[in-house]
Amino acid sequence: TPTPTRDDKFSFGLWTIGWVGQDQFGGASREPLDVVEAVEKLSELGAYGLTFHDNDLFPLEATAAERTGQIDRLKGVLASTGVVVPMVTTNLFSHPVFKDGGFTSNDRSVRRYALRKVLENIDLAAELGAETFVMWGGREGSEFDAAKDVQAALARYREAVNLLAEYVTDRGYGLRFAIEPKPNEPRGDILLPTLGHALAFIETLDRSELFGINPEVGHEQMAGLNFTHGVAQALDAGKLFHIDLNGQRSIKFDQDLVFGHGDLQNAFSLVDLLEHGGPNGGPAYDGPRHFDYKPSRTEDYDGVWESARANMAMYLLLKERAQSFRADPEVQEALAAAKVAELGQPTLNPGEGYDALRADRSAYEDFDPAPYYNGRGFGFVRLQQLMLEHLMGAR
Ligand code: GCO
Ligand code: MN
Ligand code: MN
Ligand code: MN
Repeated sequence: TPTPTRDDKFSFGLWTIGWVGQDQFGGASREPLDVVEAVEKLSELGAYGLTFHDNDLFPLEATAAERTGQIDRLKGVLASTGVVVPMVTTNLFSHPVFKDGGFTSNDRSVRRYALRKVLENIDLAAELGAETFVMWGGREGSEFDAAKDVQAALARYREAVNLLAEYVTDRGYGLRFAIEPKPNEPRGDILLPTLGHALAFIETLDRSELFGINPEVGHEQMAGLNFTHGVAQALDAGKLFHIDLNGQRSIKFDQDLVFGHGDLQNAFSLVDLLEHGGPNGGPAYDGPRHFDYKPSRTEDYDGVWESARANMAMYLLLKERAQSFRADPEVQEALAAAKVAELGQPTLNPGEGYDALRADRSAYEDFDPAPYYNGRGFGFVRLQQLMLEHLMGAR
């Protein structure tokens, strides 16, 4: 398998490799991982970045001295390894204070506390040189329709993030925000459940240019959606600020499998899109390839590092397979037969409007739809088969 390098821009959440295996039905199956060891190990494996929530690094109850102590330990290991912190995020979900959310809790004093907690963490993100500040509103939601005024909750969400954008602007921080959608878990229903909801919400913000999304493979797939399509729409909107890569097999609880260990076909088309920007060009993605997965609680620490390696190997293998797919002359021919490039051609002629279109008899009066019955197949199945043969290494 290919060896990752810094140029591949692989990053990991401290909470991923540091997940000790506690779940709804059982306690930890591993001992806690120290941040210094985490960064040294990631660096050794070829990752370039570490991301974290404030409380992955120091507990919510930490004194100022304890907080500074941990930040200094992190800075030390970043300096000695060259690992960077491209993204920082805030934990507004673990402590019981956030049981009804942070920015959208019915309790106003909790909302004010949440905002202050995020402001503190934005200062830290800027200090560490992060470019992206992720906001996953895992507890922003409800289980009881009667107990949540959703329009008011969205107004409070907007009020909160508008304030944060004003803060980074006034401070001159180079940070941009990425909202991370998820349909459910831990709440029964989470606000901004899909990337489409988040993109629409962003357009209502005061400084919408500072906001993009951090879509996660498994989250869109939990909603039964095609992740690659969603990412393509985010790229089209210029809003793919960050990405969470992992694996999910069908609509069920958030599995957080290794990238590619879920829907492999969709992972292939995703890597192809991120690397090549789609068959007809279009914007590709050059930000961090960030893994947000959970090393299975069946594993000891050897297995944890094996799983970290597996994420990067899957990405690089898929990238290699996508390149071999694109380079195959038979694929090129099948793509042409399927008219994939023709979709890149505008439907109207240059300067043409509806008058000219209506005057063009070949477009309508003389156009014959009949041959599309029992003929003019698109050949998409053949193309897909070629794709799968490349994916399987059969070509
Ligand atoms: C989840 C989420 C989180 C977020 C993280 C960063 O399902 O638990 O994906 O892991 O990505 O909180 O904001
Ligand atoms: Mn997730
Ligand atoms: Mn998760
Ligand atoms: Mn995530």
